[in-house]
Amino acid sequence: MPAFTIRELARADRRAVAFTFGRLSQQSRYQRYFHAKPELAPRELSGLLDVDHWHHEALIAFSPPPRAPIGIARYVRLDEFDMAEVAIEVVDGWQRQGVGTALMVALTERARAAGIRHFHMSMLRDNAGARALASHLGPATVLAAAGNVVELSYSVSAGSSVPAGSSGAGSSSPSPPSPAPTATG
Ligand SMILES: CC(C)(COP(=O)(O)OP(=O)(O)OC[C@H]1O[C@@H](n2cnc3c(N)ncnc32)[C@H](O)[C@@H]1OP(=O)(O)O)[C@@H](O)C(=O)NCCC(=O)NCCS
Repeated sequence: MPAFTIRELARADRRAVAFTFGRLSQQSRYQRYFHAKPELAPRELSGLLDVDHWHHEALIAFSPPPRAPIGIARYVRLDEFDMAEVAIEVVDGWQRQGVGTALMVALTERARAAGIRHFHMSMLRDNAGARALASHLGPATVLAAAGNVVELSYSVSAGSSVPAGSSGAGSSSPSPPSPAPTATG
């Protein structure tokens, strides 16, 4: 398998997020956002970068040198503290090479360390890649189905299907962000 790498997304990764979006086909964008998505508005881009590595975590995968961004997975914590919504995208040129699985394994580790016990994942019914990827998370419960979109819930507690400790992402555990960030960070 090619040696791609995974690290935390940083707020400074604006170009990398835009680059990744730019390398998704129309179909992949549709599968990710559930509607035609010719571009990302600057405000949407800012939202995708608004990570605090606790309530909102994102991991980004890079190709072997020249280290181009090739995929991003994220969770955003829901109102229930131990639940988070998950989304993932892998650029078309790198799909079906294990990048999505590696990102989900790494994201699941982060989520567990942040106290998250359930992932919610929405996908188009006919999205075979997402369904196959999600099947590695373990048994799913259907939470909602509207039109062609289905929302599933997976347990990500230790002991669920995704193996722990096998990703290329950084191994440090996330820490809660300070409740009152200062101007100097
Ligand atoms: C879904 C997605 C993230 C999968 O990423 P990936 O890097 O291709 O995934 P992997 O290579 O790790 O493959 C994971 C599993 O999915 C299967 N798979 C991937 N793409 C597939 C496809 N188009 N059709 C059927 N199976 C597919 C793989 O065979 C593998 O199954 P296995 O482990 O049982 O052999 C990627 O296809 C993608 O970015 N799609 C567009 C965005 C999207 O659909 N996001 C999900 C909703 S938020």
